[in-house]
Amino acid sequence: MSIINVSIIFLIAIFAVNIDAGVGKTITMDPCLESMKTASLPDLPYAYDALEPAISEEIMQLHHQKHHQTYVTQYNKALGKLRSALADGDHSSVVKLQSLIKFNGGGHVNHAIFWKNLAPVHEGGGKPPHDPLSSAIDAHFGSLEGLIQKMNAEGAAVQGSGWVWFGLDKELKRLVVETTANQDPLVTKGSHLVPLIGIDVWEHAYYPQYKNARAEYLKNIWSVINWKYASDVYERNNRDQTEI
Ligand SMILES: [Fe+2]
Repeated sequence: MSIINVSIIFLIAIFAVNIDAGVGKTITMDPCLESMKTASLPDLPYAYDALEPAISEEIMQLHHQKHHQTYVTQYNKALGKLRSALADGDHSSVVKLQSLIKFNGGGHVNHAIFWKNLAPVHEGGGKPPHDPLSSAIDAHFGSLEGLIQKMNAEGAAVQGSGWVWFGLDKELKRLVVETTANQDPLVTKGSHLVPLIGIDVWEHAYYPQYKNARAEYLKNIWSVINWKYASDVYERNNRDQTEI
């Protein structure tokens, strides 16, 4: 399930709420909503113990099999209820369901990115990016170390649960560091923002191994960051912007 599909659901829901159906009129469900596929848990592109010692096997297994799976399950349940609510013209329920869809859909979207943001050291994890991303990072943050320090500081400062993001603003052609609360995806901070790297700072991402030392987790995770993935996304989106 992509962010675009999540957005489509929101738009359809908002549209449905704004319809003045009148007494006795039946609201017909949008065909694209009826045929919309449910979300599913993606396989990890590496073994659960492949990111050790930075992230333990225990954390990876729990995080993927329990936490991410729960977001997928709850998101699909909410989508089912949304379909029924739309079919029934139950506008109150449509509105009520949006926070569930945002939280669990966001949890699914964010974690699907997070797994791809990581790679075992023997598969290039932690290997610094090449140009053009490398030069863009230097131009925006002074150096790769400057970006990492900023991400670590902002990630450590997130109150409660959330994410710290390194992203591309396609419209302004700028690299950005942002934080989001709970399971809000980066796009909630701006419709032109594309996530390059998202780091999960929920306690479930580090507590079994690092206890309350979130800063230590943030320091160590860079040894398994998949800069090749970030570079590929950056080049694809930067190129698209240039061609428009
Ligand atoms: Fe998580």
